[in-house]
Amino acid sequence: MKTCGVPCHIAIIMDGNGRWAKKRLLPRSAGHRAGMNRMVALADHAFDCGVRYCTLFALSTENLSRPQEELNSLFSLFREYFSANAERLKKKGIALRVIGDRSLLPADICELIAAGEALTADGGRGVLTLAVGYGGRQDILSAVNEAIRRGQPVTAENFSSLLWTNGLPDPDLLIRTGRELRISNFLLWQAAYSELYFTDTLFPDFSDTELDRAIEAYERRDRRFGKV
Ligand code: IPE
Ligand code: IPE
Ligand code: MG
Repeated sequence: MKTCGVPCHIAIIMDGNGRWAKKRLLPRSAGHRAGMNRMVALADHAFDCGVRYCTLFALSTENLSRPQEELNSLFSLFREYFSANAERLKKKGIALRVIGDRSLLPADICELIAAGEALTADGGRGVLTLAVGYGGRQDILSAVNEAIRRGQPVTAENFSSLLWTNGLPDPDLLIRTGRELRISNFLLWQAAYSELYFTDTLFPDFSDTELDRAIEAYERRDRRFGKV
């Protein structure tokens, strides 16, 4: 039987941190911390499996309307993540990249992001992209406005290069944890032909073994791209 092989690009909507905490009678911030710890280990595992691009949805444009207390705990975790991981990713040969609207983020986090991206820029083993302050519609609108500014007719190819994901291939496999069956404004243009995998597992419980299962499921898919 024909198989797809290991997906080159996996994208994950990391949902369910709040419910994971609630089940344990913990504050939502504890769920986000557990989610971050899982994210670090899971990304390492994805690259060990032969994935070249891993894109993780960490904060949507719409999430920025959550209560300030929750946002503060998320921003603290981002500060911790970028401070603790840039050097580590560099050693592993992984380039760090962040997509989203940086004007929505605190200035010191933008500085940590820029430093992390610069430090890891020559990583040749893979690209880890975090979507922070990201929205698929906002991504498309900013590309359209850039095309208008350039006075350039848009084609599928040059449009892709105007998106925040410029240079990344489209995701082969798009996973959503946490039971919901929706895309929630993630990579709307880029996921046109992604294989979708939904699981009830809340993100902090999404184990390396479950990622292996998602990859195995992907390998059994028949990707036709509209052809016969
Ligand atoms: C995902 O978990 C993380 C972010 C969106 C920041 P949630 O915080 O959405 O967790 P649930 O969906 O409330 O369980
Ligand atoms: C999607 O989760 C965004 C991220 C995981 C960052 P949400 O919790 O924001 O999605 P909805 O509100 O259930 O659609
Ligand atoms: Mg959620």
